[in-house]
Amino acid sequence: MLNLKKNTASAIAALIAEKYPAATLSAEEILDMLEYPPDKAMGDLALPCFRLSKSLRRSPMEIAKTLAEGISLPELASVEVQGGYLNFRVNGVAFAGRVVREIAEKGETYGSPMCGEGKTVVLDYSSPNVAKPFHIGHLGTTVIGHSLKLLHEFAGYKCVGINYLGDWGTQFGKLIVAYKKWDDKAAVEEKGVDELVALYVRINNEIKAEEDASAAASAEGVKSSPLADAARAEFKKLEEGNEENIALWKWFVAVSLEEYEKTYRQLGITFDSYKGESFYTDKMPAQVQRLRDSGLLKIDDGASIVDLEPYGMPPCLILKRDGSTLYPTRDIAAAVYRKGTYGFDKAIYVTSAAQSLHFAQWFKVVEMMGYDWYDKLVHVPYGTVSINGAKLATRTGNVILLKDLFAEAISRVYDITKEKHPDPAECADIAEKVGVGAIVFYYLSNNRMRDINFMMEDALSFDGNTGPYVQYTYARTCSVLEKADGAVAMTDAALGEREMELAKALSRFPERVEAALAEYEPSLITRYILDLCAAYNGFYHDCSILSCEDASVKQSRIALTAATRRVLKTALHLICMQSPEKI
Ligand code: ARG
Repeated sequence: MLNLKKNTASAIAALIAEKYPAATLSAEEILDMLEYPPDKAMGDLALPCFRLSKSLRRSPMEIAKTLAEGISLPELASVEVQGGYLNFRVNGVAFAGRVVREIAEKGETYGSPMCGEGKTVVLDYSSPNVAKPFHIGHLGTTVIGHSLKLLHEFAGYKCVGINYLGDWGTQFGKLIVAYKKWDDKAAVEEKGVDELVALYVRINNEIKAEEDASAAASAEGVKSSPLADAARAEFKKLEEGNEENIALWKWFVAVSLEEYEKTYRQLGITFDSYKGESFYTDKMPAQVQRLRDSGLLKIDDGASIVDLEPYGMPPCLILKRDGSTLYPTRDIAAAVYRKGTYGFDKAIYVTSAAQSLHFAQWFKVVEMMGYDWYDKLVHVPYGTVSINGAKLATRTGNVILLKDLFAEAISRVYDITKEKHPDPAECADIAEKVGVGAIVFYYLSNNRMRDINFMMEDALSFDGNTGPYVQYTYARTCSVLEKADGAVAMTDAALGEREMELAKALSRFPERVEAALAEYEPSLITRYILDLCAAYNGFYHDCSILSCEDASVKQSRIALTAATRRVLKTALHLICMQSPEKI
């Protein structure tokens, strides 16, 4: 594969081994040292040789000279010594030709590191809590999680996407009481999860009111709530398998899921498993027993815990005083089940950084339990999202629902595009792809740990570094190619600076994919897309393509456009974005 950085690093490592046999420097170490110079006058790639002088015990200047004399690579036109730097320049036409040819040959697999063959990755993401709002806070886990799945699939891993629904717990007792007391089937059928959320909010308020009233009435300030007692009783009945309650619970889950799936459909997301928390109820006792047998469980104020003080963490809670299980207990049982079922080589969990301690704790407990796959567990955290500027109607007061955010973006794009597209169905289709894409792109433009302040206007703008802008660039490549006819291949016509910039941008896709995988960071792909679009648009404005008079130059430019379209489509797919051919 034409990976300029990697190939150069390997060649340098081999040369060092030859010229300085005493040194032990790997190609990876050299790879880390290579830089893309910010100033084009310094070439296309540079090696700061001062970083080698310690291990090679020579001056940077001397090292640079020795390496410059010995290196030869087909993709390099020249190697220059400048100060303590070794500056590499690619050989224009030959380099661009190789890049474009490789993209044409590999097609949709161009850029894949192919490192996952024969390996399985399990990804746990999105995982909303049933009958609670699916809100903007879930955007991160949903799109980062799915993008990581797509990146791993692209690298050849077998992937299992799991939506670990929060479908069990005392909230169902409350919901059952509230539903029986205040609601009817038709209302839930009509309003779906919004109705369930409203019920849940109402019963929580009423429980609080009962508690406050009882505390005020009793001399000792004792809180009590008949509604809360009833909820506990209903949940107990549910746990014991009461038919009526089981049927209600299944229905609440189905109603919620139906709604989440609308959002997933808009994002093009599907899951391989919806096994939620409830699935693990009967799988926890065996793990609790194993913890007990290995002497790891301690009783603390009636609760069962695993002491993590030696690791600088608070204890991991396994059982409450009443013997009921907790969030970590279920995660441990689920991990054991998934290892047994899928035999994963890696299990990735995407949640907000607020849960980082939870994951560190139970990962440690899994290790203490003697499971040798503890080091295959990976937590991928992300920062918070807030909203500014955009006034969105919400049904639940202070949270912004994901579906409302999408609906708002779609309707704004619809208003903009309807003049250009008189067919309402076509317009609606484009509006959905562009509107949802705008939100995804905006969100994934930032390093995942950064806290994001969401600005609708910025996300939807057609002339910033936005989703609409990159989709528009993609549509531009499609329109050029639609009008072009004949063979698409690079010729040996000389290339100008813009064309070379584009070829170089195209050649960097494989290394960005590798970095995104290594760092679990989809934003590296988002930023790559922006670099590629900037290179393409620069080329498009300065070089005539279809009206170019020199047939040989014209062909190369069309081939560059075809390569750009291919790579953009792959890259957009990797960050959960659609690529409409017309906007
Ligand atoms: N349902 C949880 C929440 O909304 C997220 C679950 C994350 N996955 C896990 N295996 N704990 O906070």
